[in-house]
Amino acid sequence: MSTQGLIGRDQELGVLAGLIDQVTDSGAAIVVLGDPGIGKSSLLRAAADHGRAVGLRVLAATGIEAEAHLPYAGLHHLLRPVLSAMNRLPATQGGALSTTFGMSDGPPPEPFMIALATLNLLTDVAAERPVLLVADDVQWLDQPAQDVLTFLARRLSSDPCVLIGAVRKGHDIAFAAAGLPELDLRRLDETCARDLLARHAAGLSYADTERILREAAGNPLALVELPLALRAAADAGMEAPRRPSR
Ligand SMILES: Nc1ncnc2c1ncn2[C@@H]1O[C@H](COP(=O)(O)OP(=O)(O)O)[C@@H](O)[C@H]1O
Ligand SMILES: [Mg+2]
Repeated sequence: MSTQGLIGRDQELGVLAGLIDQVTDSGAAIVVLGDPGIGKSSLLRAAADHGRAVGLRVLAATGIEAEAHLPYAGLHHLLRPVLSAMNRLPATQGGALSTTFGMSDGPPPEPFMIALATLNLLTDVAAERPVLLVADDVQWLDQPAQDVLTFLARRLSSDPCVLIGAVRKGHDIAFAAAGLPELDLRRLDETCARDLLARHAAGLSYADTERILREAAGNPLALVELPLALRAAADAGMEAPRRPSR
């Protein structure tokens, strides 16, 4: 298992790799929760790499605020590589997906039929090769796609399919409140924070190091960006900006 240069996330990646490694025995779903910059996307990437390395088919989608109003855009993103398997579904279900994604004409299908068709499509595809679904920033996927993910997450236990969904803390969405197992990404401890800072900003003065460690409070993004801000400010001959409070 590779940690992809991630510092201090062995335990968390171990949890995700554990689910991935046992995918042929049972499916699973888990929600990765954390503040902005805490390392959700990085952890998901590492999990996806692990999934690929052990032979899973990885399907991924990322929520983007700009697409949040497009119904099923996120689902289309996720399923695009396996859409051809639609033909193997019962006609009503295949038709529901095909209409939803604008590949055939017809009245908008019932949301339940779309969710069911997605589940069966994934079950079918996963029977050939286990599947890892990776959904990042679920809070910014369109609502119908979030609903389908929640539906899937509660039903994957008997299929060789693992779903990992990351949600930014503070977003009160159904996917995060569906009673799924949660992996809470916490701030890095001081040793790891120092290690990250040393890797990204060797040569900082003692005072700057201590100041950045204090202000970043174990947030990896802040540990990466504050030294850059400090350097830019020094170059411009100004006082470094303080990290905005969240
Ligand atoms: N454990 C870690 N070790 C090293 N760098 C990290 C770690 N976690 C996050 N980073 C870095 O911090 C930044 C923010 O991480 P990211 O995964 O995008 O956070 P999030 O998705 O939670 O907003 C990225 O530059 C990433 O490379
Ligand atoms: Mg992210």
